[in-house]
Amino acid sequence: MFTSIGMKRALVAVLALLSTDATAHPQLRQSAKTRDVDDLVQPVYQALPLGSIKPQGWFKDQLEASASGLAGNLFNFYRFVKDSKWLGGNSEYSDLHESAPYWFNGLVPLAFGLDDWRLKHQVKSFLDYILNHQQEDGWLGPETTPHTRGLWGRCYIMLGLMQYAQADPSETDRIVDAMHNYVELVHSMLQDNFTGLIPQKGDVFDGSGWGPARAHEMHIPLQWLYETYPKDNSDLIWETMDLMIEGSTIFGTDWRDFFVEGTFPEIVYAPRNQTYSWLFTHGVNLAEAIRYPLAIYRTSHDEALKVQTRKAVDLVAKYHKSLAGTIIGDELITDNNPSKGAELCTSSELMFSLAWVYQYLADNDIADWAELTAFNAFPGQIWSDWWSHQYVQQENQPWSRNLTEHPQMWVNVGSYGNVFGLEPDYPCCTVNHPQGYSKFLANSFVGTEDGGIAHVFLSPGSVTTTLDDNEVTISVDTKYPFAMDLTYSILADDDFTFYVRIPNWADPSSTVTGPSGDSTKISPTNGGLQRFDIPKGESSISVNLQTQPRVVERANNTAAVYYGPLLYSLALEFNETTREPVAYNMSFLEPSSTTPQTRDHIVETTDLWNIAIDPSQIKVVASDAAKLANPVWALGAPPVELRVAATEIDWPIAWDTPADPPLNPQAKGKPFSARFVPFASAKVHMAHLPMLKLKIVDLDERDGLP
Ligand SMILES: *[C@@H]1O[C@H](CO)[C@@H](O)[C@H](O)[C@H]1NC(C)=O
Ligand SMILES: *[C@@H]1O[C@H](CO)[C@@H](O)[C@H](O)[C@H]1NC(C)=O
Ligand SMILES: *[C@@H]1O[C@H](CO)[C@@H](O)[C@H](O)[C@H]1NC(C)=O
Ligand SMILES: *[C@@H]1O[C@H](CO)[C@@H](O)[C@H](O)[C@H]1NC(C)=O
Ligand SMILES: *[C@@H]1O[C@H](CO)[C@@H](O)[C@H](O)[C@H]1NC(C)=O
Ligand SMILES: *[C@@H]1O[C@H](CO)[C@@H](O)[C@H](O)[C@H]1NC(C)=O
Repeated sequence: MFTSIGMKRALVAVLALLSTDATAHPQLRQSAKTRDVDDLVQPVYQALPLGSIKPQGWFKDQLEASASGLAGNLFNFYRFVKDSKWLGGNSEYSDLHESAPYWFNGLVPLAFGLDDWRLKHQVKSFLDYILNHQQEDGWLGPETTPHTRGLWGRCYIMLGLMQYAQADPSETDRIVDAMHNYVELVHSMLQDNFTGLIPQKGDVFDGSGWGPARAHEMHIPLQWLYETYPKDNSDLIWETMDLMIEGSTIFGTDWRDFFVEGTFPEIVYAPRNQTYSWLFTHGVNLAEAIRYPLAIYRTSHDEALKVQTRKAVDLVAKYHKSLAGTIIGDELITDNNPSKGAELCTSSELMFSLAWVYQYLADNDIADWAELTAFNAFPGQIWSDWWSHQYVQQENQPWSRNLTEHPQMWVNVGSYGNVFGLEPDYPCCTVNHPQGYSKFLANSFVGTEDGGIAHVFLSPGSVTTTLDDNEVTISVDTKYPFAMDLTYSILADDDFTFYVRIPNWADPSSTVTGPSGDSTKISPTNGGLQRFDIPKGESSISVNLQTQPRVVERANNTAAVYYGPLLYSLALEFNETTREPVAYNMSFLEPSSTTPQTRDHIVETTDLWNIAIDPSQIKVVASDAAKLANPVWALGAPPVELRVAATEIDWPIAWDTPADPPLNPQAKGKPFSARFVPFASAKVHMAHLPMLKLKIVDLDERDGLP
C-alpha cells in the first residue's frame, strides 16, 4: 500500500517538472530546480487511512458519549456552528470565523471513527454546503471582500477536508478539486504581499496575528494533497507552504527562533520580561507550534529542523509540561503553578501534535506523553456525560465555581472559567474539543517502515487494513490504562510483523506471550516497540505490563503520584448544582442556543482537601471486575485506586482557590490512609501536594474499593 503511493508520487513529481512552463512561471521553475528532492520527508510510522481504526471497550463508550453529548449535537443547536456564517447564518464569536472549521476538523474523525451515520450526515451536510458555496475565485467560506478574508480559519477546513477525502472515497474527487481551487487562490494572495495572512491596514479578519503564528497548520493538508493528488499543481502547493512560512517569519512569529534554549522561557514564577511576542507564550499556540519546525522539515529536509522538533518537545516538557500532561496557561504560560489552570484547547491540540510528531521522531517518551494527556488532562476537563467542559482546569481544584474575589487571579481567563459548562469562557474549547479523542483514536495504530503495524496508544480498539495484498484485522481487548493486560486477536491473509509499544514506565519484568504461546520477558527495541512475528491465519498474543507507583517531585518539596499512565488525585466527594448555561460574554443566551442537557455544573467538595502526603507510603488497590463502569471518568468508576499516607495541614486560600502548596506544612492531627483516584475521574481534585515525612500509617485501614 505504502509503496504504490510512493511510486505514484515520484511519477507525478517528474510529470510536474516536465509540464512546468518556464517562461510563464519563472520563479516556480526555479524553486523546482533548487529543491534537492521533490519528496517530502517520510514518517517513521505511517498514519493508517481514517476509518480503519475503530474504538472498543471504555474508549468506544467515551467516543459514543461524545457523539451523543456536546460534540455530536453542536450541529443541531449550537449557534456558532448551526448558525455560523459558514452555513449562511450570522453567529460568530470572532472575526476569525474559526468555530465551524474547528467543529468540522473534529467531527470528521469522530463520525468515521465511530462509523456513526448521524454524525456522518452532519459532516456531509456541512461538506455539501461549503463546497456548493465555494466562490468563483476558489475562496472557501462566507467572506467576499479582501479585508474580511483571513486564511487561518480555513486551515481547519482543509484539515477536515483532507480527513474526509481519506475516509470517504466517493467524495474524494470533489474535495480534491475544491482544495486545488482554493490553494491556487491562496497562492496568489500570498504572492500579493501575504494578503489574508499578515493583517494589513483595513483588514478585520485577524487583529492579533493568530494566522501568522499558526501558519504551519495548513502544511498537513497541503502535504497530503501534494503527495496523493497533486494534479499539475505540485510546485504551486509547495510554494504555498513556503509562502505561509515566509509570511509567518516576516510577521515575527517564526517558531524556529523560539524553540531555542536560552530564548525559550524557563520557569520563573514571576512576571516575564519577554522580548518576544505574546503569541509565542500562548498555551494553545505553543501546543500547536510543536508541529511548526517539523512541518518545514518535511519540505526542506533540513536535519536541523528534526533536531529542533525534538528540542521543542524537550523544552516544553522540561519547563511547561503540567503533571496531567498539558501546558498551564492563563492563557499565556504561567509556569507549573497548580492553581492557574490549563485551557481545554491546549490538551486537545497537544494530543494531536504529539501524535503527529511521534510518527516522525519515533521516540517512546513522546507517545507516553500523548497518553498522559489523553488519560489525564483531557478527560479530566470534560463532564462525564460529555455535555459540558471546563475552559481551564487547575491541578489543585477542590471546587469549580465562579471565583468571586477581586482582583481575580486570572488575567485572560474569566472568573467562571473552571466551571463545567457549555461555554464557561471563550467558545473555542466548545468547538475544538471533538478532535481530542477522535484523532487519538485515528493515531492509535500506525504502519511501520518494514510494512507491519504497531499499536502505539494502548487504548482498546481494532484495525482492519491492507498491507500490500495482506488483509489484516487486529483487535485488542484491554482495560488499559485501568489495567495492564492487553490481549490481541489477529486475523491475517499472510505473515506480517506486529508491534506493541511498551511504555517507558513499564518494569523489565513485564511479559509478553507470542503467537506460539511462549511467554517471555519484554524485549523492546530502542523505540520501545515489542516485536511479534505473526503467521497467516488466526493468532492471539498478549502483553502483561508490570509497574509500581511513581512519585514525581516538583519544586518546593511538592510531589504528585502516578501509577502506569495515570496521575492520581485525592478523591474528593462533592455536591453539585446545575444551572442554565451562561454565555461566554455574559450576554443572554437564547433558549434555542441550548438544550435540556446543556447545563453548567458547579461543583464543590464537601471533603477535607488541604493535605500533605508521605509518598514513601503508597498502596495499590485494584478490583478485577469483568467490566468497566460507563462512564469511566467519574468518581469511583475506575477499578484501580491508591492509598497514600496523608495528614491534614493548613493551606491558605488565595483568590478564592487554594494558594500555592504551603512551603512549611505542619501536620495537624493523626496521619491517615488517603484515597487517591485517577485524576480525570475526580472532577474536583488535589494532585500537586506538599510532602511530609509521616509515621507509618496502616494503609489498609481504608481497604477495598468503595
Ligand atoms: C505589504 O505589507 C506590509 C505589512 O505587512 C505593509 O507595511 C506594506 O506597505 C505592504 N506593501 C505593499 C506594497 O502593499
Ligand atoms: C528586560 O529586557 C530588556 C531588553 O532586553 C532590558 O533592557 C531590561 O533591563 C530588562 N528588565 C529587567 C527588569 O530585567
Ligand atoms: C461571577 O462573579 C462576578 C462577580 O465577581 C459576577 O460579576 C458575575 O456575574 C458572576 N458570573 C456568574 C456566571 O455568576
Ligand atoms: C517556591 O516557593 C517560593 C515562595 O512561595 C516561591 O517564591 C518560589 O517561586 C517557589 N518556587 C517554585 C519553583 O515553585
Ligand atoms: C456576546 O456575543 C454575542 C455573539 O455571540 C454578541 O452578539 C453580543 O453582542 C455579545 N454581547 C456582549 C455584551 O458583548
Ligand atoms: C456544597 O458544599 C460546600 C462545602 O461544604 C458548601 O459550602 C456549599 O454550601 C454546598 N453547596 C450546596 C448547594 O449544597
